Amino acid sequence: MIKYISTRGGIDPVNFDEALLQGFARDGGLFVPQTIPILSKDQLKTFSKLGYTELALEICSLFIDPGIIPRADLRHLINKSFAGFEHPDILPVKPMNTDPSLFIMELFHGPTLSFKDIAMGFLINTMDYLLQKRKKRLTLVLATTGDTGPAAAHAAAGKKTIDCWPLYPRGMITREQERQMTTLGAANVHPVGVENCPDGGDDLDLVVARLFADPILQKKLNLSSVNSINWCRVMVQSIHYFYGYFQVCGTIGDPIVFSVPSGAFGNLFAGYLARAMGLPVTGFICANNANKALHTAFSTGVFKKENLKQTLSSAIDIVVPYNFWRFLYFTTGCDPKKIIGWMDKFQQTGEIHLDPKSAAAIQDGYASVSVSDSDTLTTIQNAFTGKVPYLLDPHGAVAVAAAKMLRANYSSDTRIICMGTAHPAKFPEITARTLDQTIPSQAFHPSLVNASRVCQKLRICDCEHLEFALIHAMEGVKKTEENHG
Ligand SMILES: Cc1ncc(COP(=O)(O)O)c(C=O)c1O
Repeated sequence: MIKYISTRGGIDPVNFDEALLQGFARDGGLFVPQTIPILSKDQLKTFSKLGYTELALEICSLFIDPGIIPRADLRHLINKSFAGFEHPDILPVKPMNTDPSLFIMELFHGPTLSFKDIAMGFLINTMDYLLQKRKKRLTLVLATTGDTGPAAAHAAAGKKTIDCWPLYPRGMITREQERQMTTLGAANVHPVGVENCPDGGDDLDLVVARLFADPILQKKLNLSSVNSINWCRVMVQSIHYFYGYFQVCGTIGDPIVFSVPSGAFGNLFAGYLARAMGLPVTGFICANNANKALHTAFSTGVFKKENLKQTLSSAIDIVVPYNFWRFLYFTTGCDPKKIIGWMDKFQQTGEIHLDPKSAAAIQDGYASVSVSDSDTLTTIQNAFTGKVPYLLDPHGAVAVAAAKMLRANYSSDTRIICMGTAHPAKFPEITARTLDQTIPSQAFHPSLVNASRVCQKLRICDCEHLEFALIHAMEGVKKTEENHG
């Protein structure tokens, strides 16, 4: 039976359902499986013939005991979670016209048009399934840089077991992203626009972490989180590496590289997981924008907090990529003592220097680059003015720019899949600014047009008072719900 432990080593092993419902491990660490399941070449061959949802069923079954979720229920949860995706392939992989070995994997055909929908629908549907069995209700609090919030709000809308509180740095996400959270009209979704956040989403993460560290509040409100610290998100995101590989490689063993626009490192850690499970990935490109904590860590062995820079690829404007702790845990020998030492030092000084062995270990198969806004814009322009015009969103553009910068590091037969993590319609101002012509139809999406026509419902507060204001509001909502039975 697969069990989950904490990267800080301070809890007894728990089952998948507990890891999913708790979100953060109680000792302040991140949940990880006790062992990572390894697939044989024959299993990979069998999996390569499956459609996305069947593949998802097989991969998830490796991490979820059937005693916790029976296979038939798991299949139902997966099918329900991907039913709202617009594309028949769910996550289509398309060639980029500029280079025959370059592909884009469109991860944005879910209901809120970003890759966050991939894991969020399954996570929240599964949460609801487990809570119904336990006759319990949860309060979800999550910080968003623009895409996690809409995905969670949409997946949670109307669920009787969940209250969902997405917090976002007001003015630092697009109007389209804001409206996706504030126009749902669901009584159990409570978006909070937070003003004056110098460190953007990271400021909100700190408040969320403080709420979780308060055991009395935890219990009173039954708090949980669906940020990418939640193991279930990472597990589901690992599937698209398998799927992408099988789409473009004819034979198991063919060389492949994934270029991933990275913020909190959840998507890239999922890639690490897929490779650790036996998927023969040649390498990963960690594509940062000007917020380059990850690039600095990979290239110098120093993991440090720098001031937030606002960029065009705003969803990856992240100062502390918290999934990096998971990655460090596995790449440096699964030693909780090391992680505790590093996490505590990082909290005190905002910086850690990896020893030479650990610095070399994280570089194994990982390259990185920091992409400027001007390179992002040029990449969008070039992709759209090619023979077959392709409209990239700024995050997909960061991945493509990074892939082009590092192309020469890989053999000519290596295919590179760039992760298209958001639909360009979420960033219309950037499209308009970049393309010197009539805005193409791909720059719009009917769901966003509809959301622009209805009233918004949100709470607004200042970052300085967020903790107090949030607790006050959450307690108020809880009281009202209790009064209504
Ligand atoms: C559009 C988009 N691309 C990339 C990312 C980065 O993903 P991760 O935080 O898992 O590194 C995010 C989220 O943060 C996103 O919303």
